[in-house]
Amino acid sequence: YWTVDKNKDNLHKCSEIKEAALWIKQGEVIAFPTETVYGLGGNAMMDEAIEKIFTAKGRPSDNPLIVHVASKEQVRMLVLEIPALAEKLMDAFWPGPLTIVLPSNNSVSQRVTANLPTVAVRIPDHPVAKALLEEANVPVAAPSANVSGKPSPTTAQHVKHDLNGKIKGIVDGGKTGVGVESTVIDCTEAIPVILRPGGITKEQLEHVAGPVKVDPALEQEGNTPRSPGVKYTHYAPNAEMYLVAEYPQRLQMVVDTYRQEGKRVGVLTTEEAVSNYEADLILPSGFREDLETVASQLYATLRQFDEHEIDIILAETFPKQGVGEAIMNRLEKAAGKKVLL
Ligand code: TXA
Ligand code: MG
Repeated sequence: YWTVDKNKDNLHKCSEIKEAALWIKQGEVIAFPTETVYGLGGNAMMDEAIEKIFTAKGRPSDNPLIVHVASKEQVRMLVLEIPALAEKLMDAFWPGPLTIVLPSNNSVSQRVTANLPTVAVRIPDHPVAKALLEEANVPVAAPSANVSGKPSPTTAQHVKHDLNGKIKGIVDGGKTGVGVESTVIDCTEAIPVILRPGGITKEQLEHVAGPVKVDPALEQEGNTPRSPGVKYTHYAPNAEMYLVAEYPQRLQMVVDTYRQEGKRVGVLTTEEAVSNYEADLILPSGFREDLETVASQLYATLRQFDEHEIDIILAETFPKQGVGEAIMNRLEKAAGKKVLL
């Protein structure tokens, strides 16, 4: 467990980063902060390192990992080609919360890509992640550093809670910023396709790349998602969760009904609306008027419900616009699509 001040100069020279980078090179797995969530990193060229990631997380092996790199040059070594549009997106959004799926040249471990002909890559925008990647000087495969199915970690404490004793170490760089994972976009076809909404919005992507499509599996049931991870239950707190589209009145009525049945009920709301409710636990995630603050705190808030004896969580919904798209995607998964209209 290494604590690193992300604002320090010459981070890659600090002994904690050097040590963590060495472990990664040697095939061990290390958790580290990115601007989105903490990742669990391993050397993408080594089967045994990737094996350790899947084991520690309890992750299904058909769900491929994102490869984190320090430079565009490193990407070139992993792919058959970088289409012009992909290059445009890289220039506009890297380093940053955008993951780009490209045709793989099969140099990373087959376990990273789950045998797909493509590889997902990104350059994260976090001083600690950057220093670690530069120092390790190998592509680093890193899923979110949570136990599979749980909300992704936005602090080193979350990682410790989930993976203590199962991994070689954690680089603690404080709270992450964006709070939801990167947007995953497939650039292997003429028109790019969003496979997972995230930190970069569809509006931002279209501004740079022109029209982009959204994987139909994200919008309706019954389509097989092209991003394998999207099909699994995710981000789920222990309590049963429902989204309530009409709040606060209708939401409060549902709270009352469950409480009359003897259930302990929690409400997931925002700072502006806390005083509208009466329940066993009322937790705000940021400010509704600034959806980025909601995204930033969402996973920490979901995890907070697990610290209390709560049977049911009722959550407000958000407009599916801008980063609201990613927030609703995560909330719908956390609730297993249970929406009360
Ligand atoms: O912000 C993030 O993306 C974080 C940080 C650590 O970088 N990472 C993350 O990784 O969220 P993970 O493993 O939790 O999610 C990776 C997603 C999954 O939905 C997976 O199916 C998809 O990316 N993915 C990875 N490789 C892919 C590929 N070749 N084709 C399609 N989807 C892919
Ligand atoms: Mg994940």
